[in-house]
Amino acid sequence: MTTEAFHGELLTTLADPQRDGEAAIRHIPSALMVVEDGEIVEVGPRAALGWKYDGVPTTSLPGLIVPGFVDTHIHYPQTDRIAAHGHQLLDWLDRHIFPAELAFANRAHADGVADFFLGELLRNGTTAALVFATVHRQSVEALFDAALARDMRIVSGKVLMDRDAPDGLRDTVASGREESEALIARYRGRGRLGYAVTPRFALTSTPEQLGSAGAMLAAHDDVLLHTHLSENHGEIAAVAACFPDHDDYLDVYARHGLVGDRSVFAHGVHLDAGQMARMAKVGSAISFCPTSNLFLGSGLFDLAAADSAGVTVGMGTDVGAGTSFSLLATLAEAYKVGQLRGTSLDPFRALYLATLGGAKALKLDRRIGALAAGYEADFVVLDPAATPLLARRTAATTNLHDRLFALMMLGDDRAVHSTYLRGRPAHIRDSK
Ligand code: GUN
Ligand code: ZN
Repeated sequence: MTTEAFHGELLTTLADPQRDGEAAIRHIPSALMVVEDGEIVEVGPRAALGWKYDGVPTTSLPGLIVPGFVDTHIHYPQTDRIAAHGHQLLDWLDRHIFPAELAFANRAHADGVADFFLGELLRNGTTAALVFATVHRQSVEALFDAALARDMRIVSGKVLMDRDAPDGLRDTVASGREESEALIARYRGRGRLGYAVTPRFALTSTPEQLGSAGAMLAAHDDVLLHTHLSENHGEIAAVAACFPDHDDYLDVYARHGLVGDRSVFAHGVHLDAGQMARMAKVGSAISFCPTSNLFLGSGLFDLAAADSAGVTVGMGTDVGAGTSFSLLATLAEAYKVGQLRGTSLDPFRALYLATLGGAKALKLDRRIGALAAGYEADFVVLDPAATPLLARRTAATTNLHDRLFALMMLGDDRAVHSTYLRGRPAHIRDSK
């Protein structure tokens, strides 16, 4: 057994500050965090704990120690198509994304992108993510093998799409099922991986394939469901035309057994109160992806409506429609979306959404998302003086709330001093 300790200023949420107020926030200016075999065993003020761990090797960390960020929706095959100009969702998919995804039939290509992608997550302080691959089984194998090598918490799955996609990007009901099952069997219980049954969205799967996805979700109680929902007006109209005898977009998924407490839906920008209430009732989660929603002109997600309905929400970058891998930059855009909606996102709530809230959406909130005993020691050291401007703004703050807000509004990968996975440094800024 290896025991080590980390010393520094620590900030974590232990619950949703929106619900539990100050009691949800733990801030220790001079903390000791003790880690045994990659798991946190104790966190507290160093003055109170130090004597107990005399002789335990201790690393002092500069900056603010927070839980590793959790990205609840991102596409690794779209890494090389981030910032593709000129279109909204359906045209953007046809012109930029489907051509890029074709290349993932090639395992070597997938390996190269997966390696870069995971490195980029770590550079941005993201230690866990729910990730879209492509329709190709080997795209998932490349990502999972790369995540195993780095000991990262990655949840992913083969994309199911058996219609309305170009040649080379379609599977069938049978092959989609068989390959998903094979991947579940091959990777179950390995490292920190998880599987998500992943129909792309209602437009690219036949009703038969959606039903098959629902059957897989029912057959395996340890897998998630990951898809897109109600993102763009053109998409919503096309779904209504395609499924005329369904009440609404959510009903299409619900009638195929896809709406439950292990379901994560990206976007939900145009859900009405009834759909929000149905999601809350069964415990489904929404991934809020503000940089993507603004980039594609999809709309302004109504976080206040999701909150009042009681829907679980996590943050997603949604690269490559999203324009940044950074959850800090993503929170900054979430704040601006809130301003346009007449609400203002509190920085502690924002930290929760990007950590424990995201973990809750992925059903991992007893393992990751907080810095407390029993949690995996995935954490990030943020540098409040990372850039001259951030240093200047930070120097002018007088409290933690304002310092955290400045980090979230001005920070990005530059503000990530280092990223740790189960107590081991996985990225240190400036060291190549
Ligand atoms: N809806 C279906 N596929 C996609 C995708 O790749 N990105 C986004 N943002 N929305 C989608
Ligand atoms: Zn997406």
